[in-house]
Amino acid sequence: MQHTGTMTAAARILFFTLLNALCFYGAFGDTCPCKEQELCQQIKNETKFEVFVFDVGGQAWRYYDWSKVTTIAAFGQYDPELMCFAHSKGARLVLKGDVSVSAMVDPTNRTTWIKEKVTLAKKQFMDGINIDIEQAVEDQSPEFFALTSLVKETTEAFHREIPGSQVSFDVAWSPKCIDKRCYDYKGIADACDLLFVMSYDEQSQIWGDCIAMANAPYDQTLTAYDQYIKMKIDPKKLVMGVPWYGYDYPCLSFSQAGVCSIQEVPFRGAPCSDAAGRQIPYSDMMKQVNSSMSGRIWDKKQQAPYYNYKAAGGQVHQVWYDDPQSISLKAAYVTKLGLRGIGMWNGNILDYSNNPVAQQQTQDMWDALMTARDTVSSGVAPESSSRPMPHDQQAT
Ligand SMILES: *[C@@H]1O[C@H](CO)[C@@H](O)[C@H](O)[C@H]1NC(C)=O
Ligand SMILES: *[C@@H]1O[C@H](CO)[C@@H](O)[C@H](O)[C@H]1NC(C)=O
Ligand SMILES: *[C@@H]1O[C@H](CO)[C@@H](O)[C@H](O)[C@H]1NC(C)=O
Repeated sequence: MQHTGTMTAAARILFFTLLNALCFYGAFGDTCPCKEQELCQQIKNETKFEVFVFDVGGQAWRYYDWSKVTTIAAFGQYDPELMCFAHSKGARLVLKGDVSVSAMVDPTNRTTWIKEKVTLAKKQFMDGINIDIEQAVEDQSPEFFALTSLVKETTEAFHREIPGSQVSFDVAWSPKCIDKRCYDYKGIADACDLLFVMSYDEQSQIWGDCIAMANAPYDQTLTAYDQYIKMKIDPKKLVMGVPWYGYDYPCLSFSQAGVCSIQEVPFRGAPCSDAAGRQIPYSDMMKQVNSSMSGRIWDKKQQAPYYNYKAAGGQVHQVWYDDPQSISLKAAYVTKLGLRGIGMWNGNILDYSNNPVAQQQTQDMWDALMTARDTVSSGVAPESSSRPMPHDQQAT
């Protein structure tokens, strides 16, 4: 009796173990890689203020300021440790979505692509997708309509399959067919949770003088938000994207007044572009600026810093970038315009070494993002907005 009883208990345990395993693998597909199983649950909380970070892979995420991060768009390889960690901080981890728009004109193809992405997101316990399609699309073309449908159907599928998930879409700094991206911006905004406005690469099409200029000049950046809002896009759907990189331009000639003329490299119809320069990370510029020819110079018109240096062969280069001063000025407008939040391309490119100067510079960059939120909570206008600004005159 005793013996049989033990057998029965063992059989019962085995039965429930098998049943559990069956349910687990059947319903959830994959084993949770986190130490605490609940960290595999997707984030459901609504985020009031977004700090949207693009991560391009590697280990830099370990040094991010996690008191600020709300969403990480994983543009590098999937890292289960990052997923567990982000969830432990209440932050979302979203997939990258990129596909040929012309292939998405076919509805069956769209459905297949969306299913694939939802399945992948679930398998990796992720919280949504960031659609990064930077292709040229003609106004009112089949691709124009297909793109909006793709965003709408992706959002519906993600919201249905992963409750609380977030679908975002990356747009150029301005909705005015920049880089021939003539998308249905209003339709796309309505169809997803948020637009990440890439307020950088603003010299991708230079129509005037072919000279080195700021990556994200103040007026040009903010005027474009007015354009988005004038299209009746809800400001709460817009996240301001700022650059954590700059452009290094070799100067063909360097004038007495410090103007750097650059090589003509056409882009999507424009005679000149920032492709004449090379993108460089904030960390590299910070190592170079103090010992450069000019040191840091503040350009009052574009409200951005730059410096000049001489390369090994003797050619002058001009480097334009963003730093805490230029970023805070723009970030103040996140509040003023009532936007959803702020973010950057990309989180990896600060100096996360333990050099004390670098550590301070890195923290200052993270803190500059919060110029936006600090003004919300305190209700006090930032110092910068008390100065007269051309943008104020334009907006009012
Ligand atoms: C998210 O929601 C859960 C459950 O409602 C709550 O316990 C948690 O504190 C929230 N987290 C954040 C970061 O607000
Ligand atoms: C469907 O998508 C594939 C690529 O994913 C593409 O090669 C094919 O042409 C597309 N079909 C249609 C009808 O657009
Ligand atoms: C560069 O100069 C600035 C201003 O004087 C200083 O705060 C910073 O620490 C210097 N950077 C480095 C890397 O020494």
